[in-house]
Amino acid sequence: MLPTKVSEDIFWVGAVDWNIRHFHGFAYSTHHGTTYNAYLVVDKKTALIDSVYRPFAEEMIERIKEIVDPSTIDYVVANHVETDHSGAILKILKLAPKAKVVGTARCKDGLQKHYFGNWDFQTVKTGDELSLGKRSLRFIEAPMLHWPDSMFTYIQKDSLLLSNDAFGQHLAASKRFDDEVDEKTLMEEAAKYYANILWPFSRLVIKKILEIQKLGWNIRVIAPSHGIIWRNNPTSIVEAYLRWAQGEAKRKILVVYDTMWGSTEKMAKAMVEGASSMGIETMLFRLPFSDRGDIIKELLEAKGILIGSSTINNGVLPTMAPFLEELQGLRPINKMAAAFGSYGWGGGAVKAIEESLEKAGMEISAPALTAKWVPDKNEIQKCFDFGKEFAEKIIKTE
Ligand code: FEO
Repeated sequence: MLPTKVSEDIFWVGAVDWNIRHFHGFAYSTHHGTTYNAYLVVDKKTALIDSVYRPFAEEMIERIKEIVDPSTIDYVVANHVETDHSGAILKILKLAPKAKVVGTARCKDGLQKHYFGNWDFQTVKTGDELSLGKRSLRFIEAPMLHWPDSMFTYIQKDSLLLSNDAFGQHLAASKRFDDEVDEKTLMEEAAKYYANILWPFSRLVIKKILEIQKLGWNIRVIAPSHGIIWRNNPTSIVEAYLRWAQGEAKRKILVVYDTMWGSTEKMAKAMVEGASSMGIETMLFRLPFSDRGDIIKELLEAKGILIGSSTINNGVLPTMAPFLEELQGLRPINKMAAAFGSYGWGGGAVKAIEESLEKAGMEISAPALTAKWVPDKNEIQKCFDFGKEFAEKIIKTE
């Protein structure tokens, strides 16, 4: 298990999880696996920045042993409590009993409540520096990016920002740097990561980027704690974050639905025809056959979404409920939306969809469109027009 040199005397000593397919429980699909990135900084003092998920502790320790004896580690910097970055901390502290743990006050509380350790802990806050010899570590708190304890570490000598979860991607690879992997896959995974994890915190993302820009830090390399390290073009991911956080989107519409006996599906397909007749890229997703995390990623850069469900028990189909729940949590900004669906009697599905859209803070562009039992020719035409008019409204906002 070999380390990878990131800069002079700074090494990636993390682990590659090729097989993980679900993250945060089953909230987020990871089709391309992930990595847990830990970094070793060797100077007069040696610091380990973050660690890895517990099942990968040995992999990290083997990489560290290629560089130093783990017992010589002086500091274990915990940029973030979450177990995918701190899970190996007990093992590493057993090997490095003199090491001091460094993190924010909230990190201290969080680690204590996860591992119940009685460690030598150094609490740091924004502006604090920790000298290692030729270089020092500078800290900047990044609360809610994406946990209250989150923090970035900056190494001026190497123009290196260790950004933990920010700017990450769930992407396992045998290569570590952005100039070594497929650019399209990299940006798609970065977008999926942003949409599924950081989207609700967009205002804080903008604020943090502006704060760092104001500090005037020279940043040549951004090394997140998941996926690929940005050394070739770190600006590209910062600019993408600003675009996503500001709600910039493409001329694109999603139609997301589920259907009981095919009526809502007929409506959905007619809406796709109508919207695309206006020259707008339109994508159709049926739940649960389409992956929720992938749809959320597509929504990040779409301008609008039409959501449909047949009515069951006066509400939406159970396959639709988790998607609506997720939208409410993510609170997508600058998205136009509308509801549709077939019903036999009560017809409560569209009401439930509209309530969720309102809770998600989305703009409802038109009253819901419904069809009783099976949509006839006239109703299919209405669905086509509904999609077309939705597309026209989106074009008018430009
Ligand atoms: Fe918030 Fe990658 O953990």
